[in-house]
Amino acid sequence: MDKKKITEKMSWGKKNRMRKIIQDDGRVVMLALDHGYFLGPTRGMEQPAKALEPLIPHVDSLMLSPGILTSSVDPAFKGGIVLRSSGGSSIISDDLSNEGIILTPLEAIKLNASAMAISIFVGSKYEKQTLMNLAQTINEASKYEMPVLAVTAVGKELEKRDARFLSLSSRIAAEFGADIVKTYYCEDFERVTTTCPKPIVVAGGPKLETELDVFELCYNSIQAGAVGVDMGRNIWQNEDPGAMVQAIKAIVHDNYTPKQAEELYNELKNKNK
Ligand code: 5RP
Repeated sequence: MDKKKITEKMSWGKKNRMRKIIQDDGRVVMLALDHGYFLGPTRGMEQPAKALEPLIPHVDSLMLSPGILTSSVDPAFKGGIVLRSSGGSSIISDDLSNEGIILTPLEAIKLNASAMAISIFVGSKYEKQTLMNLAQTINEASKYEMPVLAVTAVGKELEKRDARFLSLSSRIAAEFGADIVKTYYCEDFERVTTTCPKPIVVAGGPKLETELDVFELCYNSIQAGAVGVDMGRNIWQNEDPGAMVQAIKAIVHDNYTPKQAEELYNELKNKNK
């Protein structure tokens, strides 16, 4: 099935919410800034309202926690709002996968959310608990035509980012009924996108060495079938986050190559000096 047509059978309300996230061209630039929910004040996002200023005009949607939405985002924001809805462990706890549900669909609706985001930690000690968090949220959110985005979390074990693991996690999320799946780019990424019947967005992970590395990650993900990015640190930990987000947007929506995106980034960065 063409993933661009995935919203066709949805109700008007759900379709409208999905369209706030995935744009008319079937692509999305989602800015992830939910890291504080387990990392606290992450570098580059110590003051979210300030960090968001150069980014907001260039993103289609935001993925963030409820408290940062209400404290740091102008209610005039017109893009999609994807609310972090699972949590409960911090970076200093024993096991990041020990999560519960932190937001109900009703609270999400009160915040005018376009979707709720739930992490699943496949292969972890709390695998079942996190899968049940996803199942319960999908069942409850469905009553209000609220989409759910599943995050195929890898916790501290970043080595788990291979096609075998990510296709397993992404497919499970899709089978449970997630409307969008967030995962990581990896070698043989097509194996992940082709075996997951729902739209896939990619996270950036920890900051990469060069801007070109980030542009290649975005470009290759889209070429392999992702609908866009749901990226954080590689944007807002960059020297020039505004230039970075615009270059990524050019890849996602205007099919720029990594080299063209790098040129645009340098041009914008030099202008901002
Ligand atoms: C954490 C998340 C983050 O939003 C995700 O990791 C995306 O951010 P980054 O691009 O910095 O990895 O879902 O569980």
